[in-house]
Amino acid sequence: MKFFIDTANLAQIKEAQDLGVLDGVTTNPSLMAKEGISGEENVLAHYRAICEIVDGDVSAEVISTDFEGMVREGEALAALDEKIVVKIPMVKDGVKALKYFSDKGIKTNCTLIFSAGQALLAAKAGATYVSPFIGRLDDISTDGLGLIESIRVIFDNYGFDTEILAASVRHPMHIIECAQIGADVMTGPLSAIEALLKHPLTDIGLAKFLADHAKANS
Ligand code: G3P
Repeated sequence: MKFFIDTANLAQIKEAQDLGVLDGVTTNPSLMAKEGISGEENVLAHYRAICEIVDGDVSAEVISTDFEGMVREGEALAALDEKIVVKIPMVKDGVKALKYFSDKGIKTNCTLIFSAGQALLAAKAGATYVSPFIGRLDDISTDGLGLIESIRVIFDNYGFDTEILAASVRHPMHIIECAQIGADVMTGPLSAIEALLKHPLTDIGLAKFLADHAKANS
């Protein structure tokens, strides 16, 4: 299972990269705005900075919602670095853009997936990744993990190469359950990734080991 970090914060990306478990980064316009990044040149420079930190795929989202605009933006983003994955929203022109980029060998991530039908359509159009937003479904009392299960079955039935990128991950149980279901990738905040390493019995056990060692060596 690949681990992506869902942020545009360079310090957090570097921290996850230094941990040695990072396979890539996902961003979106809200995350870029949160870091105060605005203006085309600054946005492109920020994506270059992210690509310098990580080894894996970096999803960069288009703002356009029409086919021509998505193609123009996506090509500019893809030209930045071979790590760039063009992130495209699940709208009608977005499906056409997925097919366009797929035919050109440019990686894509179809975002804002909230149903199995949307995921199937994106896979048919040749998306490299589909991003079902599990946290946002949970927020409206709908089963986010159930959606991951449905997409897994559909993709396996037909041998789609499209990877399931579980997005809008909020906590460590989301990550664990996505791993059990067989999501190919999860993207979440640094806090959810770091929460995986914590267990009170680990802390208690380590304190005891160190105390016993200190006593024996005093
Ligand atoms: O990047 C897309 C997705 O992961 C957003 O997550 O927490 O804003 O629902 P969230």
